[in-house]
Amino acid sequence: HQLHSDQDRGDGSLKYILSGDGAGDLFIINENTGDIQATRRLDREEKPVYILRAQAINRRTGRPVEPESEFIIKIHDINDNEPIFTKDVYTATVPEMSDVGTFVVQVTATDADDPTYGNSAKVVYSILQGQPYFSVESETGIIKTALLNMDRENREQYQVVIQAKDMGGQMGGLSGTTTVNITLTDVNDNPPRFPQSSYQFKTPESSPPGTPIGRIKASDADVGENAEIEYSITDGEGLDMFDVITDQETQEGIITVKKLLDFEKKKVYTLKVEASNPHVEPRFLYLGPFKDSATVRIVVEDVDEPPVFSKLAYVLQIREDAQINTTVGSVTAQDPDAARNPVKYSVDRHTDMDRIFNIDSGNGSIFTSKLLDRETLLWHNITVIATEINNPKQSSRVPLYIKVLDVNDNAPEFAEFYETFVCEKAKADQLIQTLRAVDKDDPHSGHKFSFSLAPEAAIGSNFTIQDNKDNTAGILTRRNGYNRHEMSTYLLPVVISDNDYPVQSSTGTVTVRVCACDRLGNMQSCHAEALIHPTGLSTGALVAILLCIVILLGKLLLPASYLPLLRGTPCFCDTLDFSASPIKAYSMI
Ligand SMILES: *[C@@H]1O[C@H](CO)[C@@H](O)[C@H](O)[C@H]1NC(C)=O
Ligand SMILES: *[C@@H]1O[C@H](CO)[C@@H](O)[C@H](O)[C@H]1NC(C)=O
Ligand SMILES: *[C@@H]1O[C@H](CO)[C@@H](O)[C@H](O)[C@H]1NC(C)=O
Repeated sequence: HQLHSDQDRGDGSLKYILSGDGAGDLFIINENTGDIQATRRLDREEKPVYILRAQAINRRTGRPVEPESEFIIKIHDINDNEPIFTKDVYTATVPEMSDVGTFVVQVTATDADDPTYGNSAKVVYSILQGQPYFSVESETGIIKTALLNMDRENREQYQVVIQAKDMGGQMGGLSGTTTVNITLTDVNDNPPRFPQSSYQFKTPESSPPGTPIGRIKASDADVGENAEIEYSITDGEGLDMFDVITDQETQEGIITVKKLLDFEKKKVYTLKVEASNPHVEPRFLYLGPFKDSATVRIVVEDVDEPPVFSKLAYVLQIREDAQINTTVGSVTAQDPDAARNPVKYSVDRHTDMDRIFNIDSGNGSIFTSKLLDRETLLWHNITVIATEINNPKQSSRVPLYIKVLDVNDNAPEFAEFYETFVCEKAKADQLIQTLRAVDKDDPHSGHKFSFSLAPEAAIGSNFTIQDNKDNTAGILTRRNGYNRHEMSTYLLPVVISDNDYPVQSSTGTVTVRVCACDRLGNMQSCHAEALIHPTGLSTGALVAILLCIVILLGKLLLPASYLPLLRGTPCFCDTLDFSASPIKAYSMI
């Protein structure tokens, strides 16, 4: 470019000056000719427009010959930039089995050239590597799937190379490339499959519920949750005898015992076990059911078991009057094993220390070997042992509860020792004592005692017994007035009977003393010397005690040879009664 002033006559009197963007640096001007030159290559992409000013001045005067003029230098674009992708490497995923045309990822390349001038910046995408699996939209850079039924289980990784070319993709355009790493993600397009159609396991019959017997595993080409497997027993004789649970870590099915097995009842079970995917994709169900099944055979092994009693416990009864060697009952035990080993029975002696019972070792019959008494021991709880004769290690125990049944073998008796008194001035038919009885037996319908005067005392008796029919009876006076000087003490024999079978009865004696009473019927003094005050001893009683002590001392101190002399010595202590006093113990001489 050249500047030229109309005033320039070409005589060298003018000088050109340049100022503005890049003046003196990028652009220099020949001060004589006005030629403007660029000092180096200009890059539009760096600065597309420069604004400069030029002036011509008179060399001599230094004054401008013309006003300053401004001019603009525009840099013309040339295609000197290739398209550049925003990333060197892209990664993307797309589900396997996607429809053709499924979006995968969009890649973008930019071109620094002037988009408004020519085609230098017009980029077109094409695929260099990755066909026929993927395609790229030439305008947008969108990568899509291009092949039907791409199967992850077949190939998972793809490397696609995309080219971006400017000049609208024409020959001579500049280009750049990028790599797109595409991974197919899993979908559930594979059902579980058992590698074998049948399995066999064995387990001892003694395995407790919960014992694992064996593991089976269906394989599934998918991964993650698409490869999760649930196992179930769908059919077979062992449906309620076994369980199958899934090991979440290994996706194996663990077959376990659910109920107690019994070799003697069933030796082999056949199960149908199914493996299925819990997460299925409905669109693949046309491929078939997402499950598989296999047959599992379980062989139950025999275990040597101890004998088994016919009951968990036996409750037996025996009358208390049973003779020795009476059969109480019997127990049976059997070896559950196929061998049916014979068993023998015995009583655990620790539970029958007194050897009251015996067992027939051959047939399990239990006998008494002692007499029983319900009133001493109501229950005999013993243990019986059954042992296999050829293998004494195999033995079992069973409890026996033997109840002794009541027999009426005890007579009723007075509930306490009865001693009472009658007032001298008593009238006939006065109640002077109520009697009660007890009986150790325990009849079903309760006690029904009856009371009566012993027959030998009934005739001319001075008292009557009135049976109240409620297991009590009263002693009544039979006449008016008693005289203690005439008869100081009456002994009434009373027969108590229990009316049970066999009837048991006893005779108890009630002592009735004749006493002087006050007007209210309170006892004041009884026969001659033994006068009892409610709060202490009368003088007479004290004298009597002293006398007794003297005699006692005499008996102790005198040599044995004197004893015969004293033996007949009357001591009225014998007849004294201090039942109301604390000194009762002394009266036992
Ligand atoms: C068991 O054997 C005994 C002989 O020891 C016999 O008296 C009894 O009746 C038998 N019991 C049974 C139930 O067979
Ligand atoms: C024996 O067994 C019976 C019935 O089970 C029970 O009532 C009783 O208390 C037991 N006796 C002993 C001493 O264990
Ligand atoms: C009844 O009492 C009288 C004395 O009052 C006596 O002689 C008689 O033996 C008594 N009867 C009997 C059965 O004890």
